[in-house]
Amino acid sequence: MKPSHSKFAQDPHAPLLSIEGLEVSFRTAEGTVNAVRGISLDLQPGEVLGIVGESGSGKSVTAMATMGLLPRSASVRGSVRFRGEELLHRNERQLMPFRGKAISMIFQDPMTSLNPVYSVGWQIVEAILAHQDLSKEEALKIAIELLRKVGIPNPEDRVGNYPHEFSGGMRQRVVIAIAIANNPEVILADEPTTALDVTVQAQVLEALRAALSSTHAALLLITHDLGVIAGIANRVLVMYAGRPVEIGTVDEIFYDPSMPYTLGLLGSLPRVDTDGTERLRPIPGSPPSMIGEPVGCPFAPRCPLAADICRESEPPLRSVGSVDTGHLAACHFAEDARIRGASLFAATSSDIDATRGAGGVAPPESGLSFGHGPDEARAPGPGNYVIAEGFSPAGPGGYETAPDAQETSGDPVLPPDETEIP
Ligand SMILES: Nc1ncnc2c1ncn2[C@@H]1O[C@H](COP(=O)(O)OP(=O)(O)OP(=O)(O)O)[C@@H](O)[C@H]1O
Ligand code: SF4
Ligand SMILES: [Mg+2]
Repeated sequence: MKPSHSKFAQDPHAPLLSIEGLEVSFRTAEGTVNAVRGISLDLQPGEVLGIVGESGSGKSVTAMATMGLLPRSASVRGSVRFRGEELLHRNERQLMPFRGKAISMIFQDPMTSLNPVYSVGWQIVEAILAHQDLSKEEALKIAIELLRKVGIPNPEDRVGNYPHEFSGGMRQRVVIAIAIANNPEVILADEPTTALDVTVQAQVLEALRAALSSTHAALLLITHDLGVIAGIANRVLVMYAGRPVEIGTVDEIFYDPSMPYTLGLLGSLPRVDTDGTERLRPIPGSPPSMIGEPVGCPFAPRCPLAADICRESEPPLRSVGSVDTGHLAACHFAEDARIRGASLFAATSSDIDATRGAGGVAPPESGLSFGHGPDEARAPGPGNYVIAEGFSPAGPGGYETAPDAQETSGDPVLPPDETEIP
């Protein structure tokens, strides 16, 4: 049963989720932290948009602002609309019909979402009854089916177990079951696989994929791992220092990256289409402080292409490429960056100086190339990037699921009266 939000005046033609000019700052003893400095994005039904960026780039703050979960110390500007309905600056009561129903959220640590003193079944039942007019018995049946859907073996037995009786990966799958319990239209997942080892990571992504196919929900997937994005997303938004620095389809971001930071992220990923002897190139330096407003491009101290203009003015997000496909990058030298490819981080400053402004860019001589121009070999697909043990480029989304048997945790214990919800 699809949830109804009829008491809100929703626009049927509006994007499912629309974030416009979102800015979030925190006043702290050290100064004002400008955590998010102008994010705009639209999410369409069924779409998977990956948000990727280093620690501190503002990914979680964006998600928390969308859900109205920021602390009072946050100052929020801009707009977050669900089907045209403004969500920002609503109080808890006004947000209740949206949270967990229209939009649900999955956090990195499942224990943040699960209560250790109640069985997982009870917690799913509680989530169902918060939004649906059903009996406890009916809700329990749905809870068992949800556990089955996310890959929990023997769900009839396991539904009575407590969170500590599940492994980390199983707990995260329970959280996914709760997130889809009311058929949400949007799921926000903030680093849902980061705390897990690589095999379990693949299982959780598989559960997420199953959740999407059963609900047809759109997914905003936050991660610092481009490899995770490659396996599941349609579009990618790359964040740096609180703002988007590149947006495009998965193909545009992986094959035609146009912002040096994106190139750096790609260059630090292992690939399967090489012989394994290439060195990974981590991006030198560290992310900037978010206190105060940056002067110039915040990536300049780490960027091999940085020139005087970069240190003077922050580049706007602009269309790149010969036709406007929605591929945007924030870089004064996006065209140079695009041609250089991943070899950019292998280039010396004298290489860059020698070619800049001389009517073109020297072809890359070392490092990795992501393929440009009709004559160059193009990498066969986003699955080229090795993301984890268990990753299979041949699979539907690139992941293989390891047997669940490893994740079960002893005999099930069915606590009495767990369906007696106060
Ligand atoms: N309540 C707060 N008070 C002050 N600063 C905050 C607060 N919450 C977040 N920040 C700051 O906002 C910035 C963005 O934080 P955010 O948690 O969104 O980063 P992130 O991209 O999710 O990083 P990570 O990958 O580590 O989760 C950081 O500089 C962080 O220190
Ligand atoms: S604007 Fe300049 S410093 Fe910033 S990413 Fe582009 S080239 Fe590098
Ligand atoms: Mg975060």
